Amino acid sequence: MSQARGEWSSKLGFIFAAAGSAIGLGNIWRFPYLVGENGGAAFVLLYILFVIVIGLPYMFGELALGRFVQRNPVGAIQAIRPGSAWKWVGYLGVFTGVGILSFYGVIAGWTVAYIYKMAVGSFGGFGELISDPLAVSLLFAFFILLTSAIVYGGVSGGIERWSKILMPVLFLLLFGLIVYSVLLDGASAGLKFYLNPDFSKITGRVVLAALGQAFFSLSLGMGLMITYGSYMSKKEDLTSSGLYVGLFDTMVAFMAGLIIFPALFAMGENPAAGPGLVFVIFPKLFAQMPGGQIVGVLFFILLAIAALTSTISLLEVPVAFMVDEHKAPRKKIVWAVAGVTFIFGLPSALSQGASEYFTNFGLIPGRLTDPDFLSQMSFLWGDFSLAFGALMLSIFIGWVWGADKAADEIESGATGFGKLRGLWIFMIRYFIPLVIFIILLNLFGLFN
Ligand code: PFF
Repeated sequence: MSQARGEWSSKLGFIFAAAGSAIGLGNIWRFPYLVGENGGAAFVLLYILFVIVIGLPYMFGELALGRFVQRNPVGAIQAIRPGSAWKWVGYLGVFTGVGILSFYGVIAGWTVAYIYKMAVGSFGGFGELISDPLAVSLLFAFFILLTSAIVYGGVSGGIERWSKILMPVLFLLLFGLIVYSVLLDGASAGLKFYLNPDFSKITGRVVLAALGQAFFSLSLGMGLMITYGSYMSKKEDLTSSGLYVGLFDTMVAFMAGLIIFPALFAMGENPAAGPGLVFVIFPKLFAQMPGGQIVGVLFFILLAIAALTSTISLLEVPVAFMVDEHKAPRKKIVWAVAGVTFIFGLPSALSQGASEYFTNFGLIPGRLTDPDFLSQMSFLWGDFSLAFGALMLSIFIGWVWGADKAADEIESGATGFGKLRGLWIFMIRYFIPLVIFIILLNLFGLFN
């Protein structure tokens, strides 16, 4: 970052940071278990459709707004409509960052435990791990501390350089695991489940889960891309950068599924096992694989790093907001936000068997999500809040700021956007808000 407020050093700098935010537990942990719970291939198809027709055009809108005003989400909205109630949409984004981090950090903590487990050759015991109150709390605290330390010292140097090396390694490793997995005896049933859609499986919940996952995985709906777009140069083609991020992100998720489902069916496991899926299936795969112990260590190290580049971005949104808008000292704010997140996340950490109360919390009805506190937070912040935030932000971009101004901003530096300009304006003003709105209504049971 060069200038006073900071700017990505190059086009690749943005792509790596944004892809680092997008690629994470959402791809390797959340995507497969949602596919498993929501009936397989039909969900996959819906998900890809949402990424293309909603996620990507919407992402251009967030990036354009950020680059235009050069602020965090709250500041961006204030700059366009000073003093209006729209600022609450920005605040929602800031809260959502903390909300997602509060459960995401718990899962990230599990990945750290699995690095150790693989290293000592213990491939099982998922249930014991996640129901041990001390272990999960300490692991969660460790991951939040790690995230804070990096955000505290600035993101630029280490993490960017490391992700340039490690993300390609992750790609290669996943590719090798796909080959191994699809060659297992009985893998074809898994491929069928994953790739051959049964459209009767599509319900309101499935549609919202697919849309929610598209936003979650691409880090959309909470202003992260506003924040990251604010560090982008005007000369850059934000459409092509955004397309790369979307492509890499979708590929990693798709690859994770290509490993999990063939392996899962070959081993006769249940695809709808929920959030524990990846932590049960991958170790089983490593346990029977020649050299599986080393592969397992490498896999969980890469997964932890992928999670870390996402938790950094989640923490960066509230921190950037406090620093920009309240002139708070960055270092103090990092610890304050981390502390709040930890307290807020403890119930999630304890909700996988450690505490009976949080395990069967069940405030949000069962037709929407599982009763444990972690699943409830995942639904509230990861699905609902991101979809609602995206609804409000698309209206803000398309109608309040103005789709024409937004399109001008996108066009600056972009080649070939001119032909699609009219289509994009239609999408951001009508199509995207309408589709999200209908899906949210459906969620509240309006069409049943
Ligand atoms: N996209 C991340 C993942 O898929 O793991 C999660 C995430 C990060 C969501 C940042 C939202 C966000 F702003």
